[in-house]
Amino acid sequence: MPLPLLLLLTTLSAAASTSGAASLSGAHSELHTYGFPSGLLPSNIKSHSINRTSGTFLVEFDATCRITLPPDNYVAWYSKRVTGKIVENKIGKIEGISVRAFYKWWGITGIKISGEDLVFEVGLVTAKYPKKNFGEVPQCEGGKHSSS
Ligand SMILES: *[C@@H]1O[C@H](CO)[C@@H](O)[C@H](O)[C@H]1NC(C)=O
Repeated sequence: MPLPLLLLLTTLSAAASTSGAASLSGAHSELHTYGFPSGLLPSNIKSHSINRTSGTFLVEFDATCRITLPPDNYVAWYSKRVTGKIVENKIGKIEGISVRAFYKWWGITGIKISGEDLVFEVGLVTAKYPKKNFGEVPQCEGGKHSSS
């Protein structure tokens, strides 16, 4: 096959495969690369960076963000800066995401993939939810880190 045609086809197929995910920002498609659903990060991402050697990453948001996690309606809160270390199927050393349970805020320290489930680690405690619950990128409900 002549090279220019091959290049054209490659370009076209690249365009086709990205257009399906046109609404996904870089950080959301980055999650897919590592095996995670894109719904783990809210939509208001300002910038992100990742070191592909170490897996350490930084995601910056326009503002703090509050979302309600399915299916138990736990309230999660994202600070303007979320950092951590991502490798295939595992995010560790997370800072900047908390979840409200038992009348307190708990830092989510890690998230793992286990088959069709996501396992959230809050210190030594874990909670498992189906990955498919996190298919949609959530919209922020507001930015108040309310303690009431
Ligand atoms: C990325 O991580 C590797 C391994 O920890 C480190 O050697 C390198 O300096 C980092 N690169 C940047 C740009 O921070």
